[in-house]
Amino acid sequence: MAIAAGALILLGGCSRAEETASRGDGAADTPAPPTPGSAVAQLNPADSSLITVYKTPTCGCCANWVDHMREHGFRVAVTDVAQLAAVKRTYGVAEDVATCHTGVIGGYFVEGHVPAEDVRRLLRERPDIIGIAVPGMPQGSPGMETGTLEPYEVIAIAKDGSRKVWATH
Ligand code: CU
Ligand code: CU
Repeated sequence: MAIAAGALILLGGCSRAEETASRGDGAADTPAPPTPGSAVAQLNPADSSLITVYKTPTCGCCANWVDHMREHGFRVAVTDVAQLAAVKRTYGVAEDVATCHTGVIGGYFVEGHVPAEDVRRLLRERPDIIGIAVPGMPQGSPGMETGTLEPYEVIAIAKDGSRKVWATH
């Protein structure tokens, strides 16, 4: 059945990412010119490293997460908004995973304190989902360096609202 197959694919992707994470992959930032007819041609190269982040102007942990993304090679366009509800509605961020900021990159939303490496894998693998999220601002996640390490999951959200674990930290 489709859901089980999808879970297996995600699990496989997970271990692959862990193997490659240690040597880094800055090369993913250099988009090759699209070849007509190839899968790459469907991507907008301009999207591959520029993330637009919607946050409220006074959010400190959001600014810390923006720094984390920049330190990991992303270009970040910050848009301060008074209310995030409309942004979350626009990109389909479900209420139960909604948190302090919403990033948008490559046609996906990136909600909350998601590690840069998980965003990279999202852009590399291009799964059929609408976004990834770390709900609840866990301590120790990027931008939430409080000195305490709280285990957390990055959740992948499909168009039909179904969820899978994208990464565990
Ligand atoms: Cu936060
Ligand atoms: Cu935030």
